[in-house]
Amino acid sequence: MGKVYVFDHPLIQHKLAYIRDVNTGTKEFRELVDEVASLMAFEITRDMPLEEVEIQTPVSKAKVKMLSGKKLGIVPILRAGIGMVDGIIKLIPAAKVGHVGLYRDPQTLKPVEYYVKMPSDLEERECIVVDPMLATGGSAIEAIHSIKKRGAVNIKFMCLIAAPEGVDALKEAHPDVDIYIAGLDEKLNDHGYIVPGLGDAGDRLFGTK
Ligand code: PRP
Ligand code: URA
Repeated sequence: MGKVYVFDHPLIQHKLAYIRDVNTGTKEFRELVDEVASLMAFEITRDMPLEEVEIQTPVSKAKVKMLSGKKLGIVPILRAGIGMVDGIIKLIPAAKVGHVGLYRDPQTLKPVEYYVKMPSDLEERECIVVDPMLATGGSAIEAIHSIKKRGAVNIKFMCLIAAPEGVDALKEAHPDVDIYIAGLDEKLNDHGYIVPGLGDAGDRLFGTK
């Protein structure tokens, strides 16, 4: 069964508080999502393999440790997942980015796929699927099905805020996927929104309604 990690780092929690706040405007919201995505990527990559390499400093030769060429793929779920990409790419510029376009039908709450574009060597990459919100779990489950169909085998899911319902559904649908969360909330409301949550992540990121 996949593991669930809730990041309790004080900087992540502090910034998440501002992200949740209804008085935080679009510009600040976008900057904070970017920063929290960076901090989460920092934590999530803790187990990346290193190899010893010899380099020349201005003073002498030195044996140093560098990432051992593991390939990463970042997969944002459109739209709101886009807000988390730059923060991760800043730390891991060699990662490739694949996109899965999904929207949640407001009546049925079921995800509808409208776009997929993946790196061609998906099976060789460790994929981190990113979306600020894990609510019913439908979008994350569908996005992960979609990338598995295209060859992805090594997958993590990272979100800012999750509802327990979404975590349970995702664990059941994809028991091989570890889940990384900044805030695990109380529940979903009757409209499938996370309570207390942050509202509609896409609208807050892009200034739409
Ligand atoms: C939001 C969010 C997730 C999804 C989560 O996207 O960004 O993708 O809802 O809900 P779920 O877990 O119940 O599937 P939305 O469908 O609003 O699309 P958008 O990002 O284009 O606004
Ligand atoms: N999607 C969002 O953007 N927010 C929620 O609370 C649930 C789904």
